[in-house]
Amino acid sequence: MKHLSLITSILVASTALMAQPAEPTEIKKEGIGYIKMLGKALKSELKQHLQADKTGLEAINFCSTKAQAITAEVNKQLPSYAKVRRTALKVRNLANSPDETDVKVMKAYEAKIEQGTFDPKDIEVVKAGETYRVYKPLLAQKVCLKCHGTQIDPKIQATIKKYYPKDQATGFKEGDLRGVIVAEIKK
Ligand code: HEC
Repeated sequence: MKHLSLITSILVASTALMAQPAEPTEIKKEGIGYIKMLGKALKSELKQHLQADKTGLEAINFCSTKAQAITAEVNKQLPSYAKVRRTALKVRNLANSPDETDVKVMKAYEAKIEQGTFDPKDIEVVKAGETYRVYKPLLAQKVCLKCHGTQIDPKIQATIKKYYPKDQATGFKEGDLRGVIVAEIKK
């Protein structure tokens, strides 16, 4: 009888372990912090440049030359076990190309958007090898369409082509999944 109860408690304990959420809340919180750092850094710059010149031409010049540097600058402020970046299913800069895990998570977001079950607050946490990844979806808003939409000013289009001859990141409508910000945490 004693044995049986021991076995039962081991079983209960291991089930409890398995039932533990695959997304530790601490990692999620930490990742969201890094995502906000990058999101804010890029957004405030974009805003300033769009305000300075409503055509968007100055902003596109700025983004084309500075987005990677801003991302690198934010990463310098993170602990050595962490990283933050942007990616998308259709990228403008090939340096932002997605890997298999990124693609899987983004396709799942797109499926939810299509089914009408998407929640913009749906932060996904997945484990890829040793590393946790925290994903924040980015939807195309009106302001994004100047540079990612279907009717892009020819001057902006020319600048895009100059810096990104292989650009795929146009043709979006409001509410489409434009991409994600991903925090990677290895600890
Ligand atoms: C002024 C033009 C402009 C506007 C407006 C703009 N973007 Fe971009 N976007 C760019 C450029 C240029 C890049 C490539 C940056 C680089 O070299 O990393 C880019 C890259 C991205 C990427 C990284 C993946 C990739 O395609 O390389 C995401 C995600 C993204 N933009 C989302 C958005 C969202 C969301 C908005 C609206 C809130 C937005 N963008 C508004 C010009 C713009």
